[in-house]
Amino acid sequence: MLYNEQKLVYLISNPNAYHMSKNLSDLSYRKGLKNSLFETISKQDAVENIKTTSSDFLIGEASLIGAMSFYDFLKPENKNKKVYVCNGSACVCAGKQDELILNLRNHFNDNEIGHMTCLGRCYENSAFHYKDQNYSALTSEEISSLIQGQKKDSNNYKVGYSGSPVLTKPFDGLEFLIELVEKGLLMGKEKVLEEIKKSNIRGRGGAGFPMGIKLEGCKNQVSNQKYIICNADEGDPGAFSDRYLLEEKPFFVLYGMLMAGWVTGANIGILYIRGEYPESVEIIEQAIEQLKEHKLCGKQILGHDFDFNFKIIKAQGAYICGEETALINSIEGQRPEVRTRPPYPVVQGLFNKPTIVNNVETLAAVYSIISDGGQNYAHIGTAKSKGTKLLSLDSFFNNPGIFEVEMGTPLSEVIENLGGGFKQEIKALQIGGPLGGIVPVEKITSLNVDFESFASQGFLLGHASIVCIPRDFPMIKYLVHLMDFAAYESCGKCFPCRLGTTRAHEMLKMAEESDYKIDKVLFDDLLTTLTQGSLCAHGGGIPLPVRNALQYFDKELATYFQN
Ligand SMILES: Cc1cc2nc3c(=O)[nH]c(=O)nc-3n(C[C@H](O)[C@H](O)[C@H](O)COP(=O)(O)O)c2cc1C
Ligand code: SF4
Repeated sequence: MLYNEQKLVYLISNPNAYHMSKNLSDLSYRKGLKNSLFETISKQDAVENIKTTSSDFLIGEASLIGAMSFYDFLKPENKNKKVYVCNGSACVCAGKQDELILNLRNHFNDNEIGHMTCLGRCYENSAFHYKDQNYSALTSEEISSLIQGQKKDSNNYKVGYSGSPVLTKPFDGLEFLIELVEKGLLMGKEKVLEEIKKSNIRGRGGAGFPMGIKLEGCKNQVSNQKYIICNADEGDPGAFSDRYLLEEKPFFVLYGMLMAGWVTGANIGILYIRGEYPESVEIIEQAIEQLKEHKLCGKQILGHDFDFNFKIIKAQGAYICGEETALINSIEGQRPEVRTRPPYPVVQGLFNKPTIVNNVETLAAVYSIISDGGQNYAHIGTAKSKGTKLLSLDSFFNNPGIFEVEMGTPLSEVIENLGGGFKQEIKALQIGGPLGGIVPVEKITSLNVDFESFASQGFLLGHASIVCIPRDFPMIKYLVHLMDFAAYESCGKCFPCRLGTTRAHEMLKMAEESDYKIDKVLFDDLLTTLTQGSLCAHGGGIPLPVRNALQYFDKELATYFQN
């Protein structure tokens, strides 16, 4: 409470804190999206051309360097890297990456091997990125044939469902898509919005905010320009469900964006796709081309008074860009720090214009909502969590892959029936990404796949990725990995997270590697400060899995603490 009051006083007494970045938004807007500042600074020769970019955009060199230096792909230390090894949580728990690095050393120099988090290949691990493609391979021979150009199936995972499939059902073809676009346009904006509101769909990106209310808020704004952003920055290590939708159901996603544009009056849809998913970028590009051929985007779509164009933006490697306001800053070419809210993006988002940011999975569901009706969608699920949810299962399952279940489905059904149980003994699951809870296996039978069930037990459904922590994997090592990630990916805007995650990482690492004992009271204070004082759910959310681990693995962790 005290911190929030201080924050308010700071903002009121320092209006420049907000206006400075507002001005940068306006300057970035001058050139629009076609030759955007972000894409300009993402280029290989950006550093050499910094003076020209600075004078073109009327933005100081310091601001440009501040933005560029944030991204992994643009960091000078990564300039000469040729191959990137995944260090996401699923790969870390699988424990194959050291062997992979050893084998990669037969083909690359040490300084040519970097890291990426995560490549979305949690279903088979041993993942690396090479020449804009992702692979999984372990032996030196396999690596050798891959780098010599041998193609490998990138989708070696199972897809299944229980109940009524909404997102994993087959796409009905382009003829049907034309009919469905026509249907939405003939229904009119109000009716499409009504169907989405009737469906009661809540955002799948983590926060669970109702999509209909967000669309209505944006629709009610008066502005000559509005934007729809598809948040395809799926940064949660362990999650690959957005990747599945982008690559296997691209028209579901694009349809959702079209309808969001139709309802709100936006005429541009931006897909902000993580650079770690090169295959997704390619497939979405092809799908947009097909929409163009069938006049399902561009001017006067199907002869109606509705223009809508798509733009793909390839992200440059920064987890925090999944947070919607950091994402907006990123597209504007600003340093992707989280913005204070209000104003919310529906009021003042990209380039200070009303903007919808929705997750890939949320947008993809609109295809079924409009084809089968909002009421039908609302019949699936529980009283408060409607529809279906995709879950990503990692390589410790007998059936690793993507599974769709109705909200409210017992978690045990996912683990046992769809996932086929575990390949080896597992002690806990981290569900919902790095900010999601650490669920001990004994708790599986108490949980259903819906927002309320997870919250009531002190966990978080989030984006519903499942990373297995094996019985013999030390919990302290997992916590060090988590806090390392949190500290590295902190945007640095607020001190509780900027300093707190780094201090927590230091403490955990020292305790893991030496006789140092963490003062339990001090550590608890630190977690409370993070929860209560952080500006966004990154710093605010990271204490949750740590507290879960301290509660359920207290005996295992006791040796690292005092008091
Ligand atoms: C640290 C952090 C990372 C996030 N990463 C993502 C992400 O990768 N994808 C996503 O859709 N939402 C992510 N979010 C949530 C977004 O801020 C936002 O709530 C979401 O994109 C809204 O879409 P939805 O309403 O469809 O869920 C993240 C939030 C935080 C705090
Ligand atoms: S909590 Fe962390 S990521 Fe979020 S605004 Fe603060 S420093 Fe940035």
